[in-house]
Amino acid sequence: DAPEPIRVTVVGTGYLGATHAACLAELGYDVLGLDSDPAKIADLAAGRLPFYEPGLAELVERHTASGRLRFTTDPAEAAAFGDLHFVCVGTPQRRDSMAADTSHVEAAVAALVPHLRGDALLVGKSTVPVGTAAGLQQLADELAPAGVEVGVAWNPEFLREGRAVDDTLRPDRVVVGVTDPRHEKALRELYAPVVDAGVPFLVTDLATSELVKVAANAFLATKISFANAIAELCDAAGGDVVALTDAIGHDARIGHQFLSAGLGFGGGCLPKDIRALMARAGELGVDEALTFLREVDAINMRRRSRTVALAVQECGGSVLGRRIAVLGAAFKPGTDDVRDSPALNVAAQLQLQGAHVRVHDPRANATAARMFPTLGYADTVEDAVTGADLVLHLTEWEEFRALDPALLAPARRVVVDGRNALDADRWAAAGWRVRALGRPA
Ligand code: UGA
Repeated sequence: DAPEPIRVTVVGTGYLGATHAACLAELGYDVLGLDSDPAKIADLAAGRLPFYEPGLAELVERHTASGRLRFTTDPAEAAAFGDLHFVCVGTPQRRDSMAADTSHVEAAVAALVPHLRGDALLVGKSTVPVGTAAGLQQLADELAPAGVEVGVAWNPEFLREGRAVDDTLRPDRVVVGVTDPRHEKALRELYAPVVDAGVPFLVTDLATSELVKVAANAFLATKISFANAIAELCDAAGGDVVALTDAIGHDARIGHQFLSAGLGFGGGCLPKDIRALMARAGELGVDEALTFLREVDAINMRRRSRTVALAVQECGGSVLGRRIAVLGAAFKPGTDDVRDSPALNVAAQLQLQGAHVRVHDPRANATAARMFPTLGYADTVEDAVTGADLVLHLTEWEEFRALDPALLAPARRVVVDGRNALDADRWAAAGWRVRALGRPA
């Protein structure tokens, strides 16, 4: 007889959890997703993905149909189902400080553990302040039924929205933080189909694995803000940051990736992760080590105000009563996620200053309208742009790069390229004035 397939539960079915659950089903495991939100669970159980992520809806549909992927709101069912329980709930920024809110992680463990009837391994994937895993082990020990041994391991996730499926099935590395060789063995076995393709499997202690994740995101954020700081210098000196970053990126030690200057980083991860890391460093008494991240954050937030200032300048000193088309609402292309979206932040600031703003995003109009209901939304680029006094390109969707600028009919042909992604020569040839931060007019 073939051995029973490994049974895995995934607690939390947001971006991370839904992707992880569907990809584990794709690898051949029996997977049960658990979430406290009945609406989310109803969607997923019916094979529908409640957000946009390329390729993921197909996986969810395929594996809910095959029965390998199921969903529940019942922690007791999840506890009885799996041998391995992944914790994939969110850790948003706290309202009262820069620290990460780990209450969902603690709640997930507290909901699951009392129902366990046999030894189990909890594997955290959420991005957490260092020390969280050790705290969860204590919590699990307190809550575990008599005679049941519950281990905690950490397995940070490095997926990017818009490429979540590929990043999960073909990651750059798998990192696991463990306290017990049995946990390493269980995770090695689970990830064998991924790792056998040549992916490095890195084993660390718990604290290091938690830190690997936030250190990686802090490094990426720093790289972006470095490029944007140099863009400020280019503005002052008359240089071109696009040519500059291309030139330095040819040095293999620097590399071209994550060096695109423009409107800066947003989303649910980089901004909150650098703040949470600074907060944790403060708690640990080493805040000095990370004060530079304050600058990384400040440089990044300045991109938004400088883009607003450029728009005001291009409208002759005031945007009051001006019609402004905003192309892009998602925090980056390939997603309908608008959490901490630089594009929407700029759109909202301009509206506050009296502009009539019309936003168009190929995927994110609906999520944007939920968060910023007073902005105007257009179903097509043409609807957004026709009659506009100014066009702002703020999320670099492929659709926007493919536009024919000659066919657009604004009142004035002026475009601010907030992402340095449009073909400036082509737009100029079609009679547009093209402006961008960090590049000469
Ligand atoms: C980021 C990390 O890249 C993932 O590795 C990590 O797993 C994830 O956070 C997470 O912690 O869950 P993500 O937030 O999906 O992924 O988006 P990125 O592709 O990193 O982009 C973040 C922001 O940086 C976007 O707003 C993007 O427009 C901006 N960006 C990116 C730049 O402004 N310039 C660049 O050169 C690159």
